[in-house]
Amino acid sequence: MTYKFSKRVPDPKNDAVGDILKAAADPKVTSFAGGLPAPELFPVQGVKAAADKVLDEKGPAALQYGSAQGVPELRNVVLKRLEVEGIHTTADHVMIATGSQQSIDLTGKMFLDEGDVVIVEKPTYLTAVDVFRSYGARFVGVDMDEDGMKMDSLEEALKNNPRARLIYTVPTFQNPTGRTMTLERRKKLVELADKYDVMVLEDNPYGAIRWEGENLPSLKSLDKTGHVIYMGTMSKIFSPGLRLGWVVAEPKLLKRYTMMKQSADLHTDSFSQYVCAQYFTDNDINDHIKKITALYHKREQLMMSAIDKYFPKGVQHSNPEGGMFLWVMVPGVKDSKELFNAALKRNVAVVPGDPFYGSDPVPGTFRMNYSNTPEDGIVDGVKQLAAALDEVMSEPATK
Ligand SMILES: Cc1ncc(COP(=O)(O)O)c(C=O)c1O
Repeated sequence: MTYKFSKRVPDPKNDAVGDILKAAADPKVTSFAGGLPAPELFPVQGVKAAADKVLDEKGPAALQYGSAQGVPELRNVVLKRLEVEGIHTTADHVMIATGSQQSIDLTGKMFLDEGDVVIVEKPTYLTAVDVFRSYGARFVGVDMDEDGMKMDSLEEALKNNPRARLIYTVPTFQNPTGRTMTLERRKKLVELADKYDVMVLEDNPYGAIRWEGENLPSLKSLDKTGHVIYMGTMSKIFSPGLRLGWVVAEPKLLKRYTMMKQSADLHTDSFSQYVCAQYFTDNDINDHIKKITALYHKREQLMMSAIDKYFPKGVQHSNPEGGMFLWVMVPGVKDSKELFNAALKRNVAVVPGDPFYGSDPVPGTFRMNYSNTPEDGIVDGVKQLAAALDEVMSEPATK
């Protein structure tokens, strides 16, 4: 039979990233393609103890339906994390979501009608592109440099697109580039959002994982007019499997989020919320974040020094001060998939750049992840990748 799907349903023929990750999962392959945290640092024993305590002390509540806004104990934990971001707020501004992926989805559903414009960094987080596209969005990409989104290009985009409904940004250790927006640009972005009256979705999964440079204030902490919606997540500082994220917005707007969440999934898993809150009460999360940061820094340094040693001349890359990714730009390559194939032939996987662009992909780009590859695989993987780049760069540019 032929299904009569809605326009929102993606065609499996276009699942380029799924195909890439499938190829990268081959045990022969050194994968820099995924975006997973290091599993050896998951606090398994701590979670086990927290789960026991929750079942002993709050079992019925943890196994019962709960409120769409989330368990108060976890919202209080989130308030403490927000303090670190310079966001001094109250529990009525916070809703727990099923990962920040759900916050992106609810935001798309809330603000976008067919043909509306979402302004994104060029490149941007690819799964946000998928979500906004499913709500009929058109994308306008704003150029970036090592200091994040360029503000003159952003203003141009806002001027030229009266149907812009949302600016989506990952200002700190961005996925996919690892770049961080400067304070000056953060201030300007908030000013422009107010001037053009456009909402900003600030996505900050990686901000806590910093090994170099100064912490910068979140956009939300600079926002005086309520244009910024902030999202955070437990996925990179604790565990992605528990699916816990949060949205921070003015209570009037948060009420809408809560109603939309209710119709999406009633509420986020109560048990996970209680367990996470208990873990944070009984353990020092900052200690845990320090361990994550130290390991990722070590892996990033190994990767960077191998890149500097082995990559062919002319290849450029970002220099992250934290997070999980770096971005590579290879001159003279017309098709990023070609890079992927050449690397896979040598049993190394990266994610070619195209799906990270809302529109007009820049060829010759790819993303590398360092958080999930054990140290002993990194140098050899980079060497093989360098050989693949040599091969692709020495081919005629017309190919
Ligand atoms: C920029 C960004 N936003 C959102 C997410 C989704 O995270 P989660 O739903 O696990 O909180 C990710 C995951 O990698 C991400 O990189």
